[in-house]
Amino acid sequence: MQILMTDRLLLRPWEPEDADFVYDMYSRWDVQQFIGLVPRVMKDRSEADRLIERCRSYDHPVHGFWAVQRAEDAHLVGTILLKGIPASGEAPLQPSGDTEIGWHFHPDYWGRGYAAEAASAVLAYSFSEGLDRVVAVTSTENTASQGVCRRIGMEHQGSTKDYYNATCELYLAEAGTGPGNKYV
Ligand SMILES: CC(C)(COP(=O)(O)OP(=O)(O)OC[C@H]1O[C@@H](n2cnc3c(N)ncnc32)[C@H](O)[C@@H]1OP(=O)(O)O)[C@@H](O)C(=O)NCCC(=O)NCCS
Repeated sequence: MQILMTDRLLLRPWEPEDADFVYDMYSRWDVQQFIGLVPRVMKDRSEADRLIERCRSYDHPVHGFWAVQRAEDAHLVGTILLKGIPASGEAPLQPSGDTEIGWHFHPDYWGRGYAAEAASAVLAYSFSEGLDRVVAVTSTENTASQGVCRRIGMEHQGSTKDYYNATCELYLAEAGTGPGNKYV
């Protein structure tokens, strides 16, 4: 997986030693409340170990699950996901063919621009690797996530039922447009 750097952040693969951070982040309702069709917090540290293992074994030429750490002190602050997004339909859900970008950050590090900075780098990387469009979906109530979409230059397309069997706000970034390209 490609390591990425921004002014303040290093984006790298997850390591087994990161499990304490992952568990701390995903055991919080503040973080999980808008994630998944049926949001739930992690209840057991072994779930963090398994999540890291799944991220580490994910094999794709461009997509990935980046651990985001602060360059100045190497503190982990969150994660950026770039992955295929499933189309709505009968279970098991099938790939839509679109690529989704997502972000989960620890509440201790909200309000500093880290999510937008890291997401912007991943968006630029995805375009530099040949993707021509990337989507983001958020629940209507998740205004913090919609703020990240706006800050990285994604355009609101209205609401959609096309993905995850859910009604989501849809944001789109296309190659060659928007501030997401400034890192290319
Ligand atoms: C979504 C989420 C990542 C947004 O985090 P965030 O900290 O609000 O977003 P950013 O990192 O882009 O930071 C932007 C904020 O930092 C502020 N900021 C402070 N210093 C900054 C700097 N140097 N540069 C840029 N922004 C800065 C901005 O003004 C903005 O504050 P505002 O929202 O009060 O206007 C976070 O709420 C989260 O992890 N939520 C839980 C998981 C989740 O729901 N993920 C999305 C699922 S769809």
